Amino acid sequence: MNDSIKFEHPEPDSMSAGQTPYSAWLQTDVLHTLQRPVSDHPGEHAWIVSAQTSELYWMLIIKEMQTAQMHLRANDLTQAQRTLRRVVAHQAPLNATWRSIAWMTPTDLLAIVSRASATYGKDTALQGWTYRQMVYLLGIKQAEHLEHFTPQPQRWAQLSQALAEPSLYDDVLAYLNRSGFAVPGDVLERDFAVPYQPGKAVEKVWRDIYADPGQNLELQQLGETLADIAEGFSTWKYLHLMATRRTFGARPAYFGTEGVAWLKPTIDEIPFPELWSARGFIGDPPAVCPHARK
Ligand code: HEM
Repeated sequence: MNDSIKFEHPEPDSMSAGQTPYSAWLQTDVLHTLQRPVSDHPGEHAWIVSAQTSELYWMLIIKEMQTAQMHLRANDLTQAQRTLRRVVAHQAPLNATWRSIAWMTPTDLLAIVSRASATYGKDTALQGWTYRQMVYLLGIKQAEHLEHFTPQPQRWAQLSQALAEPSLYDDVLAYLNRSGFAVPGDVLERDFAVPYQPGKAVEKVWRDIYADPGQNLELQQLGETLADIAEGFSTWKYLHLMATRRTFGARPAYFGTEGVAWLKPTIDEIPFPELWSARGFIGDPPAVCPHARK
């Protein structure tokens, strides 16, 4: 991402006959051709709409986080914070998409996914590039997931770039450093494609920001917004795990291992690690030397 990020705005089609301003702007005639069930199951449309809605929200969240990075790089905390509050807002409808498929029993799920596999081949949501790009932007950098994109060279290149670029957390830490909180150079200058290693120095930065409830209020608000985003992300993961338990149980999934067992450890992938670990001692009185005079 470069500093003057510009999102693509394809030229609007001139409004053709048979369109209204509403249908032209929102592309409703195209949108409603994009749900193509492959089974006879009456619930497949709900499955497709739910998954496509998640895709749209993931892309929206990606763009919002990239915009927040741009504002942080320009030292505009107010605009970064406004943008990140929108991410928190988008996570609510994203997470609510699970309700739309909560009616599914194992028989329903199998009727739908077995037809999808028979039509298109064995699939896994790990082949979804939007989710992966969002996760990379959140700072969870797992290069091994790139292997799913070799059939899509353009997406592979896009994700490789996202892997190598600073995450939102990297930009937050760089901003905190510029604001006078000492983030070690080897954190700021590291190879961004390598998984982030949480450390004590960054933990101390968050502790110092929160130490006095009357100081650094804007940075504390930034911390709370990031905590909301991490919580929204973890909530999505938990709802996904429960939906998997409910419809699929311990069957072997894409990798041949049990689906639930594969997903369970990923629940611990919580973005912005020191923002959380610092909470173990934010508010504690400073450590006192045992030899200090009382
Ligand atoms: C309720 C039915 C579902 C079941 C049983 C299920 C099951 C699974 C399983 C077992 C995995 C682990 C990888 C694999 O073996 O494929 C997985 C990963 C994933 N699924 Fe689902 N899934 C369901 C619905 C969905 C929906 C509706 C979405 C949203 C589009 C979704 C998005 C994902 C994503 C993004 C991952 C990767 C998670 C990560 O990397 O931590 N899944 N799913």
